This record gives sequence, C-alpha cells and structure tokens, in this order.
Amino acid sequence: MPAPRPFDAIILGAGGAGLMCAAIAGQRGRRVLVIDHAPEPGRKILISGGGRCNFTNVHTAPDRYLSANPHFARSALARYTPRDFLDLVEKHRIAWHEKTLGQLFCDGSARQIVAMLLEECRAGGVTLGLDAPVRNVTHADALFRVEAGSWTAEAPALVIATGGPSIPKLGATGFAYDLARQFGLKVVEPRPALVPLTLGGDEALFRELSGVAAPVEARCGKAAFREAALFTHKGLSGPAILQVSSYWKRGQAVAIDFLPQAPAGWLREAKRQRPKAKLASVLGEQLPSRLADTLAERIALAAELGNAPDKALDSAEQRLSAWEFQPNGSEGFAKAEVTAGGISTAELSQQTMEAKKLPGLHVIGEAVDVTGWLGGYNFQWAWASGVAAAQAL
Ligand code: FDA
Repeated sequence: MPAPRPFDAIILGAGGAGLMCAAIAGQRGRRVLVIDHAPEPGRKILISGGGRCNFTNVHTAPDRYLSANPHFARSALARYTPRDFLDLVEKHRIAWHEKTLGQLFCDGSARQIVAMLLEECRAGGVTLGLDAPVRNVTHADALFRVEAGSWTAEAPALVIATGGPSIPKLGATGFAYDLARQFGLKVVEPRPALVPLTLGGDEALFRELSGVAAPVEARCGKAAFREAALFTHKGLSGPAILQVSSYWKRGQAVAIDFLPQAPAGWLREAKRQRPKAKLASVLGEQLPSRLADTLAERIALAAELGNAPDKALDSAEQRLSAWEFQPNGSEGFAKAEVTAGGISTAELSQQTMEAKKLPGLHVIGEAVDVTGWLGGYNFQWAWASGVAAAQAL
C-alpha cells in the first residue's frame, strides 16, 4: 500500500459547508483534501431554491434555528453573516435578487454558487477527491487516516461535513452519525424536517383539495408561520407547513388559520351587511373556491348567514382561525429538505466546531444538531459553520 499522502486537514463532504471550509482553510495556507463519494460537488446546492439557490436570508438570527442548545449557532452566525456571503457573491459578479421574507436567490442559476465555491477552493490550492466512497477512518498518534476511493490520506485535522440523510437519492447518508459514534460523540435523534405532513382517516377527505394553495397561518406548539399552505394527495405541504413540520412531533396537532388577516367578529359583520349571503360565497371572496366550499360544507351553517345564530357564527369563525389537523406522519427523509437533530452540540465548541473530546475533529453544516427555517437559513449555517471551523484549522 502506498504511503498516505499528508495534508493539514481532510474534509469529508463536498457540499456547501465542506467547500466553504476548504476554501477558507486553503486560503489560510493549509493543505486541504476534500473527499466526497459523489461524482460532482455541491449536488444539493444545484437543486436548491428551484435551481436558483436561496443562498442566504438577510434576517438570519439564532432564533431561526432549532437545536437542543438554541445558543450554539450564535457565535458562528455572528462571525460570518449574510452580508459576508453576499460580498463573496458580488465579488464573483453573480447577479442576485431578494424574493420574499429576506430570501436571497441567484438571478441565473445555482451552478454559479458551486462554480464560485470551486473557484475559491482553487484559489486556496484545495485538492478535490470526488467519486471516493469512504472505506475507513482511523485516528492514531494525533493523525486521522482516511481511506476513500483510491485515496489514502493523513492529517492532524478531520472535518465531518457529510450532511444528514435527507433525500438519499441525491447521495445523502447518515455517515456523519456513524463516524461521530465511532469517535464517541453523541447524536441527537435525527428526524425529517421541512417536510410535507401526511393526513389519514377522516382528514383524508381533504385529498379532494389536492393542488389547492392558500396563504394561511400554520401553528404547532409555540411555532407559527404565515405563508402559503398547499393540500396534496397525501396531506399538507407548502412553505407554512414545511416550516411547522420542523417543530411537529408525532401525536401533536397542527392548527391552520385560514383567514389570518380577518378581524375578530368578521362573520357577524358579514351577516349584518349581507344576511342573504352563504358562508361558502363569503369565504370564496378570500380563499380559492374549492377550499371555501369544502370548509363551508364541514362547518354546515344555516344556508344563509342571516339565519345563523351569532353563537354559531362565532364558533365557525373560531374553527376557521384554528382548524386542527392531526398529521399521522410525514413524507420522511425521501422528501425532507433537511434533517433536524444530528451530532450533539454539547460535544462541540461553538467557536471552532471542534469536538471537545477529540482535538482535531470538527463537525460542520447539516451534520450538526442545528436546523434552520426554510428560506436560506440552512445554507447560511453551512457557510458560517464552515468558516468557523476553517479559521481553527
Ligand atoms: P450537504 O448534504 O450539502 O453535503 C454533504 C456532502 O457529503 C454531499 O456532497 C454528499 O455527497 C457527501 N457525502 C454524504 N455521505 C458521504 C459519505 N458516506 N462519503 C463521502 N461523502 C459523503 N437550504 C437553503 O438554505 N436554501 C435553499 O434554497 C435550500 N433548498 C433545498 C432544496 C432541496 C431539494 C434540499 C434537499 C435542500 C435544500 N436546502 C436549502 C438545504 C441545504 O441544501 C442543506 O442544508 C445544505 O446543503 C447542507 O450543507 P452540508 O454541506 O452540510 O451538507
């Protein structure tokens, strides 16, 4: 067997976090090897944001992330901000725009972000080892040895950047957790997040609404998001539902306010002004007609508002503002945009992402138990955690 090639750092995973970390460490003069089992780097970047990559969010703040330690992400996010990433994007002359809710996208293609990261890696002299499934990782005499594809390499620092298991058909695996456990680090139970929820039984009647979307407020526990919800043939999706799915636990209800803008007492007022109107037509002025009809059918008020007692109107209004669904599950890792949970933050330094138990071992990106909201927050964490580790390599 040939002698292992020496590096200062070996990074496992050529996704957003791994490439960013490699570029910065390389530009700091470190000899860096990035290993990935995929034939091309940054696959999730390429398909992100509908092919335009929602690469950050201007409202990035620690409270937009889920983690067993809600303060963990604070330091890295403060040291590498959305403005820092935007500076890089602008340096590479990539045109961008802000969509809604502070979400920044490329005008052109997500390919530009991958090309930018690869260019930054080249500037740092980073070596890329693609198509290289990892066979073995060991640690002895303060050196990590990695055998992957045709590579055998050694370095005093190893960075786990292999993400989480969401969307396995893109090459996603739970490898980070296996490696973490091999080195004695705890893993917070991984679960699908930013994922459509499924409905069964009686609620499956809503399947007839498949394809209908409406702006709503979706709530689960203390989490509440005002965005669009979409009915699917399996249950509920759309940004508002994806957002609450990250907070949802089996057995919990999800409440939907179908008219979050409506003032209290709006139905009594409608009765006063238009006693001959039907609930379905009043709802149909604000909601898609198929949804309005289904909701009105379920509420089963008197045919005309004028004939409905005020109490019945109050309870209809109440139901429309907190319509409870009992999801029986989610569409799982196959459809989850991210994985919540992951390598425990209690094991890591929040400044350097280094394992407290094993100096030289770092974990970054989605592999860590830090999960962002929908809207560019997950990439911002990938960049920021990658930079935090790189500055310590
Ligand atoms: P990432 O998963 O990107 O990279 C891990 C790398 O490790 C991959 O290249 C993989 O091949 C490699 N790997 C895995 N197992 C390995 C093994 N055993 N051996 C070797 N290599 C291995 N976020 C956001 O902020 N804005 C957005 O627009 C979107 N859009 C979006 C769309 C879709 C469809 C998905 C699935 C996800 C998003 N996300 C997103 C989430 C975002 O893509 C995600 O949070 C980051 O890509 C995480 O970056 P990482 O580098 O941590 O992992």
